[in-house]
Amino acid sequence: MALKQEFNAIDSEFYQPAETFFTAHRGMALTYDDVTLATLYSEILPRDTQLDTQLAEELSLNIPVISADMDTVTEARMAIAMAQNGGLGLIHYNMPEKQQLSEVSRVKNHVHGLIQDPIKVAPEQLIGEVLDMIEKRRFDFSTFPVVDADGRLAGLLSGHVVKPRYARRKVAEALTPRNQVHTIKQNELGSNPIARADKFFTDHPGIHKLLVVDEEDRLRGLFTMSDVERITQERSAQFKLARDARFRLVCGAAVSATRNAFGDLDRDRILSHVGALVERGVDLVAVSTAHGHSKGVGDTVRMLRDAFPKLPLLAGNVTSAAGVEFLADCGANAIKVGQGPGSICTTRIVAGVGIPQLTALYTCSRAAREKHVAIVADGGITKSGDIVKALTLAHAVICGGLFAGCPEAPGQMMEIGGKLYKQYRGMGSLAAMNAGSAARYGHPTTSTQKVAPEGVEALKEVSPSTDRILAQLIGGIQSGMGYLGAVNLAQLREKARYIRVSSAGMREAAPHDVVEVKTGS
Ligand code: XMP
Repeated sequence: MALKQEFNAIDSEFYQPAETFFTAHRGMALTYDDVTLATLYSEILPRDTQLDTQLAEELSLNIPVISADMDTVTEARMAIAMAQNGGLGLIHYNMPEKQQLSEVSRVKNHVHGLIQDPIKVAPEQLIGEVLDMIEKRRFDFSTFPVVDADGRLAGLLSGHVVKPRYARRKVAEALTPRNQVHTIKQNELGSNPIARADKFFTDHPGIHKLLVVDEEDRLRGLFTMSDVERITQERSAQFKLARDARFRLVCGAAVSATRNAFGDLDRDRILSHVGALVERGVDLVAVSTAHGHSKGVGDTVRMLRDAFPKLPLLAGNVTSAAGVEFLADCGANAIKVGQGPGSICTTRIVAGVGIPQLTALYTCSRAAREKHVAIVADGGITKSGDIVKALTLAHAVICGGLFAGCPEAPGQMMEIGGKLYKQYRGMGSLAAMNAGSAARYGHPTTSTQKVAPEGVEALKEVSPSTDRILAQLIGGIQSGMGYLGAVNLAQLREKARYIRVSSAGMREAAPHDVVEVKTGS
C-alpha cells in the first residue's frame, strides 16, 4: 500500500496553508514572486493530473487558461486556438458591434480540420500563373479546387500537373473534371465532420482530398487526409477541445457598461448586443471594466442576469472580498480579479490603486467560496509557475502578454534591428481608448483628450504558435501539481502551502552563475 504522508509538525511551522499564511502577512500585499509553494508527498505523475475547471454551471473548460479580451490579443483566430487546446478566448470589444458578432460566428462555425475558404483557381488561368502564386505566397501545397465565376465547382487541379512543363496550358485543359472529383454536401457533414471525413478517406484508398459543396454546387470547404489524420491522433491527446453541447468550439465575448449621451447606462444597446451574441452561440459574456465594484457594472450584470438567466457571466475587475460579493449578488458566475498587475498596465502608477495579485486573490477567494462563484486571476502572469500559484486560489487565469506575440494574435509583425515584434497595448492606453475602450475605464468614448491613460503601448517579440505556448504552460502547471501531489485543481487549492521568499531566494530560483546558451523555452 502506498504511504500517505500527513503534514509534518516541523514543516507545518514553516509552510502554511492559505488562511494561516495570508492572515499572518495581512499587513503586506504579496504577489507571485513573493512566495513559493512547498513540495508535498506525491503519488501523482504530472501527466496524470486533470486540469478541467468549471466557470459556471453551463461552462467548463478542459484547461484553466483564458486569453485576454484585448485588441492585440483575442479575435477569432486566437479564440479558435484557445478552444482547440481546451481553453477559452474572450473576443475584445474594441471593434464595431457587428464585427464582434462575426468574430464570434467565425469561432462557432469553425469546423476543426475543414478548410472553410480554400485557395481556389479559375479555369481560364494559366498553370504558369498558378506556379507564380505558389512561389509568391510560399504555399507548401499545389492541389487547388477550380471554381467558375459563380463560385461553382468546376474540378480539381492536381499537384501532378502543376509543373513548369505545363506552364502555358490553361487550368481548364489540365483539371480533373467535376464528375470525377469526390465531394460531400455541406448538410451531410453531421455533428462530427471529422469522423465523417475520416470514414470517407478509409473508404476511398488513394484519395487525399474531399471537397465540400452546397446545394448549388458552390465550394464550401476542403478536407485533406493529412489534416484529418493529425486531428484524429490529437483526439487521444490528454486535453480535449473545449466544445459546447452542439459540438462547436466555445467562445467568449467581452462587453462594457456602455453609457448613452446623457451618461446613463445604455440598457437597450447592451441588451440588444448581448442578445445578438447569444443568438450567435456565445458561451460566456464578460462585463470587462477596470472597476467592477461599481454601480454601472453591477447594474449591467443584474440586467443581463435577468434577461439571460442561463448565460454564463464573467464580471470584473475587483480586488476585494466586497467586490466579489457585490458582483456575485448581481448574478455573475465568475469574477475577474486584478487591478494593475498586467504587463502593460499603469493603473497603480497613475491612480495609486490596486492590490498585488496573490493577496487580492486570497481575499477574493474567501468571498468566492461563500458565494459559490469562481474567480479568475487576470494579469501579471509571466511564467507557468505564476499560473500554478494563481490556481492555488483561483479557478482559471487570464493571460494577455503571454499570447500577444503569437501568430494567432491580431496585428502585423514588424522588424526592428533584425528582430520580429508584434504590437501589444493596454486597453487603457490612449491609442486603445481612442479605438473604443474608454468606457472600460469609466471615461466618455467621445473625447479622451483630457483622460489619463492607464496602460502603455508596447511591443512583444514574436513567439511560437499558441499551441506551443500553451503546451509549455500546461506542462508547467502539471509539474507543479505533481510536486504538490494534487491530481486536480480542487486538490491543488486544498493542498497548497506557502512561504515568503527573500530577494536572494528569488535570485536563486532563476538560472544563475552560468552562461546560458539555450533557454528553457
Ligand atoms: P498581462 O500581464 O497578461 O495582463 O499582459 C493582461 C490583463 O491586463 C489588464 N489590462 C489593463 N490594465 N491598464 C490596466 O491597468 C490597461 O491599459 C490594461 N489593458 C489590459 C486586463 O485585465 C488584461 O486581461
